[in-house]
Amino acid sequence: MDGIFITFEGPDGAGKTTALQEVSRRLAATANKKIVTTREPGGSPIAEKIRDIILDTAHTEMDERTEALLYAASRRQHLVEKVIPVLAEGGCVLCDRFVDSSVAYQGFARGIGTAGIFQINDFAIEGVQPHLTLYLDIPAEEGLRRIAASGGSRENNRLDQEALAFHQKVREGYLHLVEEHPERIVVIDSQQSKEAVVEQCLAVIRERFAAMFEA
Ligand SMILES: Nc1ncnc2c1ncn2[C@@H]1O[C@H](COP(=O)(O)OP(=O)(O)O)[C@@H](O)[C@H]1O
Ligand SMILES: [Mg+2]
Repeated sequence: MDGIFITFEGPDGAGKTTALQEVSRRLAATANKKIVTTREPGGSPIAEKIRDIILDTAHTEMDERTEALLYAASRRQHLVEKVIPVLAEGGCVLCDRFVDSSVAYQGFARGIGTAGIFQINDFAIEGVQPHLTLYLDIPAEEGLRRIAASGGSRENNRLDQEALAFHQKVREGYLHLVEEHPERIVVIDSQQSKEAVVEQCLAVIRERFAAMFEA
């Protein structure tokens, strides 16, 4: 596959969705290839339905391994339907969350352990790894503060109701992944202004994939 697969990762409220939209808009202005933005979990009708089951606030009794399997199932469907076709025709996919989220949330924060998470996700993705991951780093308190400050404009899903300690573990999980994959994952300080975060993301992407995005 000739395309470029870039994922955005980070704790809730880090600014992934905000940055991704603007980065996509700016890249599209100079790209010589198709740019597609999408999100995890979801991004295709079947995958979105699985996402709704995962995030339904009524599903308080959901088993943690069921949750991990549903994320992997949603990821698989989304990958096949939406990501791979774009990569196959040489385009660029900017994806809001991917396997790293499952490792940080289910593996570390829920405490299932990373081995099982890698196992079910390896089955789901069949070797389709991101070429670059932009990890938007934010202290858990600040991420939660941003979500609270954004009021009703953002969906209040089941995960947002978890304790601060959970979100701190999520961040620890991400920082662990950064150490393990320094070549793939680039850390972006998300406590900067929105503009600064976008500029930094663009600089990394343009440097890595100069042929596709002229500055
Ligand atoms: N760099 C930033 N500085 C201040 N606020 C931000 C920044 N990036 C995003 N926000 C705000 O924080 C909230 C959460 O951002 P969002 O993009 O939804 O985060 P995520 O997708 O990572 O959960 C939104 O209200 C957004 O406007
Ligand atoms: Mg988001």
